[in-house]
Amino acid sequence: ITIYVPRDAVALGLGANRVARALFAGAERRGLDITIVRTGSRGLFWLEPMVEVATPEGRIAYGPVKPGDVDALLEAGLTRGADHPLRLGKPEEIPYLARQHRLTFHRCGVVDPVSVEDYRAHGGYRGLEAALKRGPEGIVAAVRESGLRGRGGAGFPAGIKWNTVMVAEADRKYVVCNADEGDSGTFADRMMMEGDPFNLIEGMTIAGIAVGATRGYIYLRSEYPQAFETLKEAIANGLRAGVLGENLMGSGKSFHLEVRLGAGAYICGEETSLLESLEGKRGIVRAKPPIPALKGFLGKPTLVNNVMTFTAVPWILEHGAEAYAAYGQGRSLGTLPIQLAGNVRQGGLIEYAFGITLRAVIEEFGGGTRSGRPVRAVQVGGPLGAYFPDHLLDTPLDYEAMAAAKGLVGHGGIVVFDDTVDMASQARFAFEFCATESCGKCTPCRIGATRGVETMDKVMAGIRPAENLKLVEDLCEIMTDGSLCAMGGLTPMPVMSAITHFADDFTRGGSMPI
Ligand code: NAI
Ligand code: SF4
Repeated sequence: ITIYVPRDAVALGLGANRVARALFAGAERRGLDITIVRTGSRGLFWLEPMVEVATPEGRIAYGPVKPGDVDALLEAGLTRGADHPLRLGKPEEIPYLARQHRLTFHRCGVVDPVSVEDYRAHGGYRGLEAALKRGPEGIVAAVRESGLRGRGGAGFPAGIKWNTVMVAEADRKYVVCNADEGDSGTFADRMMMEGDPFNLIEGMTIAGIAVGATRGYIYLRSEYPQAFETLKEAIANGLRAGVLGENLMGSGKSFHLEVRLGAGAYICGEETSLLESLEGKRGIVRAKPPIPALKGFLGKPTLVNNVMTFTAVPWILEHGAEAYAAYGQGRSLGTLPIQLAGNVRQGGLIEYAFGITLRAVIEEFGGGTRSGRPVRAVQVGGPLGAYFPDHLLDTPLDYEAMAAAKGLVGHGGIVVFDDTVDMASQARFAFEFCATESCGKCTPCRIGATRGVETMDKVMAGIRPAENLKLVEDLCEIMTDGSLCAMGGLTPMPVMSAITHFADDFTRGGSMPI
């Protein structure tokens, strides 16, 4: 009897290890012969730990399972998929999952993350096989035709970036994965690395073959110890299985991969400071140009992409660019792994074609706020993203539509707030975050963020509020126009969206202490 228990960080935080131990002990007491396979998460966090059992009709899920539920579950016949109040039925038929377009995440929560055999049994490495047949130009053409855009936030066309690195002339090139997922409310990269790391390994290997790099690095934030362990184990198993290292799958090509840990700076998610950090230096932003595609790690042409960009590629190579481009709309093609968090009943991972509206995500998937109070503001795209009021929730998640609404898709994180939120405090927080995380290289960001906090304090204390609010707006203009990178350049986005859409919160002077 095979039972699947996630070892994803969210499930672990909710007691998945204790559930696994209770299952093992309970089965032993009953003389049941069980095998526990530790998987990633399917991303339905309010149901974690979600335990699944293999039955002749397919897997049957139960959740959320607490260690104290295990005995009753075994008694009721969990190992046969029998009825119980926690029984959820077939996981793929749970509406939250059934309605999604799981292309990139289709194996996450299903496979044993560190098993090459399991990965292959679920379609793994078909993308690399196709890539080896197509060769570098063919791979880059497929990536270009799929319409894939950088999923880290900027949405730059991946095909153009891959082509730039491919045609660059150099004795050595590198592939670097940005796994420094620092945005508040985001977890797609982590879930993938913990639940289906071979998808990332395969995507980076395909990238290496495309651009002519034999060495790759995954720059991982140190706050992800579970992902670190899983990646290291997967890489070691990949080397043993011949899908990494020399003579990949007998092709004569080679690709080596290493995981490097960051030290907790948000700015190291910006590609040039990430490269500085990877070189062992302090994470300070480099001026662009030159772009990393031409002069990156150790001065060599380097392909830097986010986890979600690399992991979209195996599916594209396996199924074809056209099949991927059939999802989405306009210039936003394919699927977006949306991460729904904050004050919401059903938070989790929703992979869906570009074009779904914010309201559909929050209401139809999220089930409204957890507090039961009305939604007041929704921040999209991390701490540097805009706050959307109710009347803009019909904006589709699409790079152009979000930009037209003065927001951004970013890395696809959505954080929901109910009507108890004070938007002046949120605006102050944006400046405070920037002041804490600024690398200090340029003045508008280094000084501006600190002046922003001080000026917001005055607005909130009711000290000449109109005059000080005008100063905040001027400061935002200078930061937008004069900052060297997106950190200082985008901090005004949450601030200005709060001022524009929630003006009342900025005129209640005196309601907040300095
Ligand atoms: P960017 O627009 O400067 O660059 C986008 C990418 O395209 C870079 O990799 C750049 O090197 C590359 N590029 C530009 N021109 C090129 C060319 N001609 N050939 C090849 N490559 C070229 O944006 P940036 O500063 O890299 O990212 C900003 C975004 O990051 C923001 O929009 C924000 O949403 C996102 N972000 C994501 C976070 C996360 O945790 N994932 C955290 C903070 C911000
Ligand atoms: Fe550094 Fe801020 Fe300037 Fe970016 S905007 S280079 S984080 S000081």
